[in-house]
Order: sequence, then structure tokens, then C-alpha cells
Amino acid sequence: TLKVKDEVKRVRELALLGGGKKRIDAQHKKGKLTARERIEVLLDPNSFREYDMFVQHRCSDFGMNKEKYYGDSVITGSGLISGRPVYVFSQDFTVFGGSLSSVHAAKVCKIMDQAMLVGAPVIGLNDSGGARIQEGVESLAGYADIFQRNVMASGVIPQLSLIMGPCAGGAVYSPALTDFIFMVRQTSYLFITGPDVVQSVTNETVTQEELGGANSHMIKSGVAHGAYDNDIDTLLRTRQLFNFLPLSNRDTKPVIRQSDDSPDRLVYSLDTVVPLESTAAYDMKEVIHAIIDNEDFFEIMPEFAKNIIIGFGRMNGQTVGIVANQPKVAAGCLDINSSVKGARFVRFCDAFHIPLITFVDVPGFLPGTAQEHNGIIRHGAKLLFAYAEATVPKITVITRKAYGGAYDVMSSKHLRGDMNYAWPTAEVAVMGAQGAVKIIFRGGHDDVKQREAEYVDKFANPFPAAVRGFVDDIIEPNTTRQRICRDLEIFAHKKLKNPKKKHANIPL
Ligand code: COA
Repeated sequence: TLKVKDEVKRVRELALLGGGKKRIDAQHKKGKLTARERIEVLLDPNSFREYDMFVQHRCSDFGMNKEKYYGDSVITGSGLISGRPVYVFSQDFTVFGGSLSSVHAAKVCKIMDQAMLVGAPVIGLNDSGGARIQEGVESLAGYADIFQRNVMASGVIPQLSLIMGPCAGGAVYSPALTDFIFMVRQTSYLFITGPDVVQSVTNETVTQEELGGANSHMIKSGVAHGAYDNDIDTLLRTRQLFNFLPLSNRDTKPVIRQSDDSPDRLVYSLDTVVPLESTAAYDMKEVIHAIIDNEDFFEIMPEFAKNIIIGFGRMNGQTVGIVANQPKVAAGCLDINSSVKGARFVRFCDAFHIPLITFVDVPGFLPGTAQEHNGIIRHGAKLLFAYAEATVPKITVITRKAYGGAYDVMSSKHLRGDMNYAWPTAEVAVMGAQGAVKIIFRGGHDDVKQREAEYVDKFANPFPAAVRGFVDDIIEPNTTRQRICRDLEIFAHKKLKNPKKKHANIPL
């Protein structure tokens, strides 16, 4: 037994070295941490419990039988973040470029299965040259095994993907299936086919960074939910996001952190935040920051479709999902990208019992052939669908405009809103006064200005909606935080179920 013990020690030491000192140095030179160093930063100190350190690949083609590494190209296990359990896999670029062998896939699948059993999130740290070329189709099978588990786990446990190096080809689809993707600026990229293939097929010349770097996915594609300057930042921000999330959909009680921000705090700045001029812009983020606990807002997709804001905050310590039109960008209108961005977030929150708070200032859907031809009808329907099916507590605050179909979409009373407030500045109407008067008096009218004033008087205020019970109350903005905190206490007891079905058919 002494011999076995020595051997275990020797193998563990080897496993800790991954692909060896030279490749570790190369990793550091690129500004990247190693797979193990990343786990150290992500998890609470000394909390990591590793699986499968002794595993080796079983490939013998292309001289592979002579090159084996303990643990192969991924490190897997469980640990704690702020004392709460989480499963992690971290691809080791120093071993065959972090490429995915069949044992690599099996290790990942093992911890995903465990995570499902105990009900704890999975965080994947991706840094890989893709399929282990020497293993051929075995490697592809491994990807599919992971994809299947990603899909089964969706809506059961939160799944987070960090892109911390290459992630290309089929490999992108595991992150794509997860709830949140964070990228590291400059050192990570995500694409289906790299610049060389792009060049030969479409004749486009493009760099890796332009094609699939963090900027592209944050601003243009909307694939990434967050991007940070380096490995450490990305890992620490991941811990922050994790702290907002429940461990699984079995956690029906909200995640509560003790808060020193009084639920009764009145927010006087809100009384003047909406400009007197109805078309003037203001920053909805000021509203959000002022209302939530300690201004602690974790924004998701901050650089994509900025006409809608989504993210997590806390109210009296309890996690809430916030969705808000942003009048500062494109007047806060809904378009294809903002609808899709909002819809997926609403569905995440609903799946994990996170109450939704919606701030509405929306002049309608964005007009134009580009929007119509690219399917605003189909995509706008996603946000509507997501709100309508959501059974979590839904609180809505109309700060100013709530026009047209967009009024209905934005968590209206009619979509089972639990508490719908209007500020005195709210205008709930079919459209703005100018457009309305143009249509009603199509033949031209000598006194347009007067007609507009009439319309404003009649419709551009919260009364028509309040009279009908479409908003539950018209409130002083400074009381908004207090109201929402109280509401959440009551709605914690809400019980609502949708009709039994195999699954719905959300417009895709
Ligand atoms: N399968 C097996 N080994 C791989 C691999 C793969 N898919 N990708 C990388 N490696 C190995 C390399 O052979 C190299 O081994 P070495 O350390 O023994 O020399 C090591 O990983 C590091 O790769 P290297 O190319 O030196 O790193 P890089 O940072 O210069 O480039 C990539 C990284 C990912 C761009 C590059 O390795 C690459 O293009 N890999 C292939 C990607 C691919 O087409 N995958 C196929 C299926 S999706």
C-alpha cells in the first residue's frame, strides 16, 4: 500500500502540472490564467473538490498512446461560491490545446449529471482548440452528449459559460445553449468558422477579433451577455452574478441577502427624473439604480440593443429581474433586437422564480422595412409571449409613454400583471398626439395645434387607464421603492400555473 500511496501522490503532482511548465508559461504569456488558477479565483478558498484527476485519453492513433496526461484536457469538480454549491469544468489549454476528447466530454457530462441530481448551477470555463482531431467522430459524439445535457438542464439549473480562449466550430453550441455567456476581452473568441474558412468561402478578410471577439458579440451579434478586461475580472464578476441566482428551479424561495437599504426609503430624485417635455430623453438607469438596494445593478448585455435594459438587482435583499425601456436610446422603442433580448431574460427569470419588475416608457415598435422584413412581428411576439406565460410576480411601473401594442407587451395588466403602477407623468394611449391627430383628421384640419392639445388632455395622462383599472394605482414616484418592496412580500405567496402541456410553441 505504501507503493500505491506514493504512486497516487506522484500522479496527483503530474495532474496538477497539466501540459507542463513550458505550456503553462505560454498560457501566462498570452495574459491568461491556467485552468486551475481560474478555478482558484472563481471558487471560495479551499472549496474545490475534484473529480477524475486520474482519467487519461484512450486514443492510440497518430502516436497518441505515447502522449498522455492525467486528467486529460479538462478539470472538473464542485466547490462553493459565497458558501453556495456550484459545479465547474475548466478546459486546460496546456493539454492538447484544451481539445475535447471523449474522456474530456465524459468528465464534463459526469459533473453536469451530478449538478442536476443535487440542484446546483454549472459554470463552464471554455478555452479549447475544439474537437480532439486525433479522435475524430468520438469527439463529435462527446460534444453532442454535452449539448443534450445542456438542453435537459435548461430551466432546471442555471448554466453559465465563460469564454476564456478559443471556442470555435461545434464547441460554440454548448455555451450557446447556456443561460449566460461572459467573454474575456482580447484573449477570447467565439465563431462557427474561423477567418481562414471565411476567406476561402466568402472572400471576406477578417481578423479573429473582428469576427468573434468580445466586442463583436457584445455590440453586434448579441451572443455575449458580458465582457471583461481579463480572466480575474471575468471570474470575479461571475461570482457576483452567481450571488443573484437561485441554485435550481427547486429553489422556489427567493435568494435573500441581508440588506442595509431600508425598504421604506423614499426616493425623491424620482419625482423630477421625467422631463416636462414629453419627447425629451432621460436615463432610465438612474431610475433603476435609485430604486434597487444599494444601487447594485448587474446589467446583462449592456452594449446590445441599448433601447432596452435588462439585469438583476435586489429589493429588500431579494433578487429581482429588471426590464426597462431606455428613452435615451432610440426613444426606448421596441425593435427586433430589444424584443429578443428582453424575451430571453424574462424567460430565465420565470424559469427560476425570480420576480419581474418592468419600467415602461415606450413610444411603440420601431417602424421601417428593415424591421418588417427581418420579422419584427415574429420577434416582437417573443417578448409578448414571454411576459404572457410568466407566472412569477410581475410588477410594472409606467413612468411615461406606454403607447400602442408596446403598451400591451410591456408586462401590462392584461398579461396578468400583479401590480401595475403609473406615475403622474404616464401617458397610456394608442399613440402620440401628433400621429393621432394626423390620422383622425386625415383630410387636413385648420387647427391642428388645438386638436393635438385636445388629444393630449384626453389621452396623454394616466387617467383613462386608471379609470378602467388597467393601472392599479397612480403613485408618487418617490414611493415606488417602498411600494415594490411591500408588494414583493405579498406576492411571495402567489400561486399561478399555466395549463398543462408538453411545451408551448414560442415564435422563434
Ligand atoms: N486537437 C488536438 N490538438 C490540438 C487541437 C485539436 N483540435 N487544437 C490545438 N491542439 C494542440 C496543438 O497541436 C498544440 O499542441 P502542442 O502544445 O503539443 O504543440 C497545442 O494544442 C496548442 O495549440 P497551438 O496551435 O500551438 O495554439 P495557438 O494558440 O497558436 O492556436 C488554435 C490555438 C485553437 C487557434 C489552434 O490550435 C487551432 O486552430 N486548432 C484547431 C482548431 C480546429 O480546427 N478544431 C477542429 C474542430 S472544431
